[in-house]
Amino acid sequence: MIVSPSILSADFANLGRDIDMINRSAAQWIHCDVMDGVFVPNISFGFPVISAVSKLTEKPLDVHLMIVNPQNYISQVRDCGAAIMNVHQEACVHLDRTIQAIKAAGMKAAVTLNPSTPVWLLEDVIADLDMVLLMSVNPGFGGQKFIPQAVAKIKKLKQLIGQSGSRALIEVDGGVNLDNAPLLKEAGADALVAGNAIFRADDPIDTIARMVAI
Ligand code: DX5
Ligand code: ZN
Repeated sequence: MIVSPSILSADFANLGRDIDMINRSAAQWIHCDVMDGVFVPNISFGFPVISAVSKLTEKPLDVHLMIVNPQNYISQVRDCGAAIMNVHQEACVHLDRTIQAIKAAGMKAAVTLNPSTPVWLLEDVIADLDMVLLMSVNPGFGGQKFIPQAVAKIKKLKQLIGQSGSRALIEVDGGVNLDNAPLLKEAGADALVAGNAIFRADDPIDTIARMVAI
């Protein structure tokens, strides 16, 4: 299982130390949550923080933009070191154009769906996607409770990907922990984002290792 620790739950006064922990762990990616206070009711951090993280790690940055007009920031996201750019379907009027522009900028293109957005809305772009990120909480905050309907949604998405011949990975974000991870894997998840489950654990490195091995 690919594990992408969300630094939203890190200690920002000791971010270097927390990135070092991730570097020493089995986590394959690092998840960076950008919030603008418009698309979601919270504000997190932006490009200077992502650039700083990128200088401290070799692990690919999985950047999740919870912002309006993400298409306006593609080159900035690339320049601050992102490997994967996740844009919300709900935030993109011209989703196909945005996906093509992300790929042309040299990043992996991922589309994120809120819990209320059905997977079939991606039917006509799925073949072009590197990943779909399914939200298993309403985006905006770390530490929320997992929405169980996400499990059925992973299965539906897996079907859609299979039918289309797409090679898109399925990533799940929100309330993920060691208890629900096996269920998510069984449903078809390839990658798991986890914030609180990792950073509030007594032994984050061990938690990551167990999640990778699930
Ligand atoms: C929520 C963010 C998540 C968040 C996950 O809007 O997109 O990435 O950091 O945190 P946990 O794992 O604590 O739910
Ligand atoms: Zn996220």
